[in-house]
Amino acid sequence: MRGVRAAACVALLVATASLQPVTATWWLLGLNSAQIQSSAELAPRHYREECNNLTYLVAKQKQLCSLSQNVLKTVSLGARTGIGECQHQFRMHRWNCSTFTDSPHVFGHLLRIKSREKAYVYGISAAGVAYAVTRACSRGELTECGCDERIRQRPNRGRWEWGGCSEDLTFGENFSKEFVDARESRNTAEGLMNLHNNEAGRRAIRSEMEILCKCHGVSGSCSMRVCWRRMRAFRSIGDSLLHRFEGAVIVRYVNRKKRKKLRPKRRGFKKPSRRDLVYLEESPDYCNRNQTLGVLGTVGRLCNKTSWGMDGCKILCCGRGYQTMVKDVEEKCNCRFIWCCKVECERCRVRREEHYCN
Ligand SMILES: *[C@@H]1O[C@H](CO)[C@@H](O)[C@H](O)[C@H]1NC(C)=O
Ligand SMILES: *[C@@H]1O[C@H](CO)[C@@H](O)[C@H](O)[C@H]1NC(C)=O
Ligand SMILES: *[C@@H]1O[C@H](CO)[C@@H](O)[C@H](O)[C@H]1NC(C)=O
Ligand SMILES: *[C@@H]1O[C@H](CO)[C@@H](O)[C@H](O)[C@H]1NC(C)=O
Ligand SMILES: *[C@@H]1O[C@H](CO)[C@@H](O)[C@H](O)[C@H]1NC(C)=O
Repeated sequence: MRGVRAAACVALLVATASLQPVTATWWLLGLNSAQIQSSAELAPRHYREECNNLTYLVAKQKQLCSLSQNVLKTVSLGARTGIGECQHQFRMHRWNCSTFTDSPHVFGHLLRIKSREKAYVYGISAAGVAYAVTRACSRGELTECGCDERIRQRPNRGRWEWGGCSEDLTFGENFSKEFVDARESRNTAEGLMNLHNNEAGRRAIRSEMEILCKCHGVSGSCSMRVCWRRMRAFRSIGDSLLHRFEGAVIVRYVNRKKRKKLRPKRRGFKKPSRRDLVYLEESPDYCNRNQTLGVLGTVGRLCNKTSWGMDGCKILCCGRGYQTMVKDVEEKCNCRFIWCCKVECERCRVRREEHYCN
């Protein structure tokens, strides 16, 4: 009798454990930003206390948060940047990266599914933190880092010199690795997946660096050019990760005694590179509302009748059809170029059709 009850008890425990939210709750920093903004005015001792008060951070994250005054603000900006970019990139998809301000899970329970959407969310948010920290370094907002001075020793063919502030990714990448990866385990399939995708996100930044130059010299002569390296707009990183999302590789967990790793699930597929996104489970179709998961469904979404893409009514509405509404809108028309240099337009009323999923 006792044994049976104990077994039932264990079963119950296991069941509750599997209902645990996904671990990356530091995303909350991206939602509670208003509350955190004020931390710049806190005295150092209070700042450390504020880091410690954030119960959803693990010890390592609290410690990194306490490094210096602006860290919390910077990581929050990184989280917000990542979430915002996800919402931009997925605005045309059935799942539009919706967040829930009333839930501690940020994305609902959806990320319990180890899907390619989850892969994107991890990649873009790890990138967001690395990006925000790197930018803060180059602006002198963090005491631990600054501009890339070593780059000046690099040879540059051509008539220009390194100058200004080249952005130094090393600190930001390292910070993101320590902060974002802090809760993940190398001993579980999901941990390995998250770690791989976090890294893919950070690498997307490195492959999107650009060189900017400025001319110096008397009265517009460009006798000397000074150049520096910096990260491209975060939009480029979001675009490039969306590309990786489309080509994401489904993997399986290989648990050998010593080495646990992820390998392509399908035969003949090449091993994913460090820049690829990987996932373990197929996605649900996201068509219908499922409150348990935090899927809103696509009823009422605006779709595009002529598009063959994800935003096309056929795909977005999951075959349920759509309703058309005609709207009168005012827009610019008959624009003329007037020498020199302005454009003048008239305002016209036009009818526009909008389609909404049933
Ligand atoms: C930290 O939490 C304690 C107890 O809830 C509170 O009294 C204190 O004001 C908080 N400190 C900061 C800096 O937010
Ligand atoms: C996502 O779609 C829902 C409707 O399904 C809409 O209410 C919400 O505003 C959208 N969210 C974003 C971030 O676009
Ligand atoms: C960066 O990496 C080094 C080891 O490579 C480590 O000692 C250091 O604490 C790291 N973290 C930060 C935030 O600088
Ligand atoms: C919501 O999703 C869960 C998990 O996939 C599933 O078990 C449940 O039946 C779904 N609920 C509805 C109402 O579709
Ligand atoms: C709908 O899709 C077509 C084809 O992709 C595109 O040319 C058009 O601009 C889209 N319309 C809207 C309102 O987004």
